[in-house]
Amino acid sequence: MGRLVEHDATGPRKLDESDIDPEKGDIAVCQCGLSAEYPFCDGTHRQTSDEEDDTCYRYAREDGQLQRREVDHVEYTDD
Ligand code: FES
Repeated sequence: MGRLVEHDATGPRKLDESDIDPEKGDIAVCQCGLSAEYPFCDGTHRQTSDEEDDTCYRYAREDGQLQRREVDHVEYTDD
């Protein structure tokens, strides 16, 4: 499986003690790339649970909703 995710951040997000979940005592960092609270996990990774191993997916937020499409390939062009 592969996943294409669009991000618009252009720099790092520095974490400090205020980022620690007071109930769990930890920080869950998103590794799927889909969290609306990036870099923190917000549970959106659950939407990847049915991804097929041999399929590439493109995710994008449209009108506030996370949309998923299967893609055959990625084509890069020079501007
Ligand atoms: S790992 Fe990305 S939302 Fe949880």
